[in-house]
Amino acid sequence: MSTKSIRLLLIAGARPNFMKIAPIMKAFEEYEDFELTLVHTGQHYDPNLSSVFFEELGIRQPDVYLNVGSGSHARQTADVMVAIESLCLERQQSGAPFDGVMVVGDVNSTLAAAVAGAKLNIPVIHVEAGLRSRDRTMPEEINRILTDSISSLLLASEPKGVENLLAEGHSKERVQLVGNVMIDTLRSQIERAKKQQTLSRFGLTPGSYGVVTLHRPANVDSKTTLSDLLGVIKNVSNRVPFIFPMHPRTRSRVEQFGLEPYFMESSGCIVCEPLGYLDFLCLTSQARLIVTDSGGLQEESTALGIPCLTLRDNTERPITCDEGTGTLIGSSSRLLEEKLEEVLSGNYKVGTCPALWDGEAAGRIARVVSEFFVGKPTGSGSV
Ligand code: UD1
Repeated sequence: MSTKSIRLLLIAGARPNFMKIAPIMKAFEEYEDFELTLVHTGQHYDPNLSSVFFEELGIRQPDVYLNVGSGSHARQTADVMVAIESLCLERQQSGAPFDGVMVVGDVNSTLAAAVAGAKLNIPVIHVEAGLRSRDRTMPEEINRILTDSISSLLLASEPKGVENLLAEGHSKERVQLVGNVMIDTLRSQIERAKKQQTLSRFGLTPGSYGVVTLHRPANVDSKTTLSDLLGVIKNVSNRVPFIFPMHPRTRSRVEQFGLEPYFMESSGCIVCEPLGYLDFLCLTSQARLIVTDSGGLQEESTALGIPCLTLRDNTERPITCDEGTGTLIGSSSRLLEEKLEEVLSGNYKVGTCPALWDGEAAGRIARVVSEFFVGKPTGSGSV
């Protein structure tokens, strides 16, 4: 292969993807022989789930926007597959085929692009490989297992990811621990985020409020589960004020199930629209605690050293509980109150930040990818 112009197709589709691709794109600027084509699948399209991240994180406009939008899992995944396949075929026919498809995370766009690429024999690189919740009712778990199974290069964010991949039979040479690229973005943006006026806008003071997010289908798509969880949040917000930027899926379920009274009865809960990256990091970095079912936020809490009470029975990111500030709460009101008490009385555990969550993961990713294609480092990526 020529050392000039290794053509990588980089895929992003949903909110958690954008903070992962930003540092990766920047790191590849130092590798002149790589040419990145950025595709936004359009899985998330609302400005506050999509374009705000491009603006705030300085991500250039996508080269291709697929506009797949929302839909059932099969439809959304299939639409992305068809579109990525035709893009790859067009490039093959024009004599400038893609040499690799890079996907991040575990959303439907991740799986779809991986399948389309692998079936055209284009090597797939998966960033955030090897995470396993062992809970196959989660769509993301299916996406993770399938994406990893057809990836040629598997880049893990925590040691357990490497362990899982080796146990599944992936060869050592294809698996690398590179660290957490989402935390690169957190580290590069935190000072800027803290300068935002977000707290005063919502009448909050540093260290005295909680942040809550909830959007997993398993938590919000069932009326019983959602009302139990909202009851838990309501109880908590009677003791410490909470801000709850509400995901559109959750908002539509709250309305559909008629659960708005939970918020009306609770004076301490501020419900708002989903926030951009800087506003949200401004809030989380100065919070007393975080209550969430988000994967990314579990990791961000650990990196920030903020207690994170995770409203899930399991996690694919065990390091956030083993080393970090996370505790699995499930949907137990009792356990949440117990842990809240620990936080408020200053008796909650103090976590540590995992190795390689150091702001340098994208540099390692670029170097490992370069080695994969070229055989030796071609830039100044740091490992
Ligand atoms: C998706 C990811 C999930 C990720 C989450 C972050 C999958 C399987 N799920 O879940 O892993 O944690 O994104 O947000 O890929 N909607 C809007 N505006 C949008 C996008 C969606 O209003 O821009 C609404 C639509 O009604 C849609 C619903 O939200 O039906 C759910 O969106 P979808 O992309 O299917 O899944 P998420 O729940 O966002």
